[in-house]
Amino acid sequence: PGLAVYDPGFVNTASCRSSVTYIDGEQGILEYRGYPIEQLAEKSSFLEVAYLLIKGQLPTKAEYDAWVHEITYHTFVHENVKGFMHGFRYDAHPMGMLMASVGALSTFYPDARNINDADNRHMQIVRMIAKMPTLGAWSFRHAQGKPFVYPDNDLGYTANFLSMLFKMSEQKFEADERLVRALDVLFILHADHEQNCSTNAVRSVGSSQVDPYSAVAAGVAALYGPLHGGANEAVLRMLKRIGKKENIPDFMQGVKDGNERLMGFGHRVYKNYDPRAKIIKKACDDVFEVTGVNPLLEIAQELEKIALEDEYFVKRKLYPNVDFYSGLIYEAFQFPPEMFTVLFAIGRTPGWLAQWLELVQDKEQKIARPKQIYTGDRTLDFVPASERW
Ligand code: CMC
Repeated sequence: PGLAVYDPGFVNTASCRSSVTYIDGEQGILEYRGYPIEQLAEKSSFLEVAYLLIKGQLPTKAEYDAWVHEITYHTFVHENVKGFMHGFRYDAHPMGMLMASVGALSTFYPDARNINDADNRHMQIVRMIAKMPTLGAWSFRHAQGKPFVYPDNDLGYTANFLSMLFKMSEQKFEADERLVRALDVLFILHADHEQNCSTNAVRSVGSSQVDPYSAVAAGVAALYGPLHGGANEAVLRMLKRIGKKENIPDFMQGVKDGNERLMGFGHRVYKNYDPRAKIIKKACDDVFEVTGVNPLLEIAQELEKIALEDEYFVKRKLYPNVDFYSGLIYEAFQFPPEMFTVLFAIGRTPGWLAQWLELVQDKEQKIARPKQIYTGDRTLDFVPASERW
């Protein structure tokens, strides 16, 4: 008591013990439950990775089939959610809509408040993983003034999401398999990243023992911020502004002079190539094979080549991060920039829930309540307004 360590941004404070995700920023290593991200991205699926994060181990065939079945069964949302979403302004940001509608789900499932019951927790986790793509797709359709598309449960998780986004007629919408796989891989890459800002928000709010929909709504809110989920959008804007390769030297000089940052480069934890950026670079090739090459790719590759050899970036250990190439892929899918963070949120949902589950089962956890260093006045004498004025 009385002793406080000043650590703004919790740069040196471990707020929990966790067995979900391991990161070694110096080596560029990322593992979920001990499995390297490279192997999961190459050989697993998003729903299997979601199971791994939540349950702590890989599923048997029977467990996996039951998991996929449950999630598929819960993709629909209550019809009143539709009315609720229609109530937003025509130009509402899809992240604002997602945040509000995930939070609103807590009112549709009041049983979610019973967080001490394991079966009940499982139910809410399944519901949320299942319904996030529906809410995300509907927030996108709303912004475009298009009717909402109901889930098509004959399709897999990611294919179904694409159908709800892009279906334009009564005909079944089946996206190219290579695009479905690329988006599934992007979801895997975003599925968890230990105690980042939004996960910390989920844990902090969850520590009050609120229901998980409210806790995840807090995660979506944190992700909405430009310093967290919004960087890929900034990369795209930067590449468009540079416009052509000939403009790169001038741009780089401006970065080195401290006028602006090379967006999509550098990371608080990674002081080496972000392992997710390597995988995304490869996914770019797969997507562009279907959609045609995004002309901004050439500029991005040239920027990367120059930066990796430039003393300024080498000395500061600045490498491409997950956001450097992801925006290019999202644009190839024809997502508007406001949707990029919604995609991040859908991918991150299993991670948020795995961390929430760990929190509520951890007997050592307490309500999040950091100390402060008080810098204000003390013990002033209050003079009533009638005597001061
Ligand atoms: N371009 C140019 N210089 C940079 C950059 C950059 N992208 N990033 C860091 N630096 C420099 C910075 O100016 C500083 O130089 P000096 O020592 O001379 O003052 C040095 O590198 C250390 O930077 P920092 O700001 O102390 O590092 P940080 O760990 O606090 O910041 C970061 C990490 C990601 C906020 C930062 O690298 C950045 O702003 N990058 C661009 C934005 C971006 O791509 N963000 C996505 C992060 S990954 C997705 C996520 O986790 O949500």
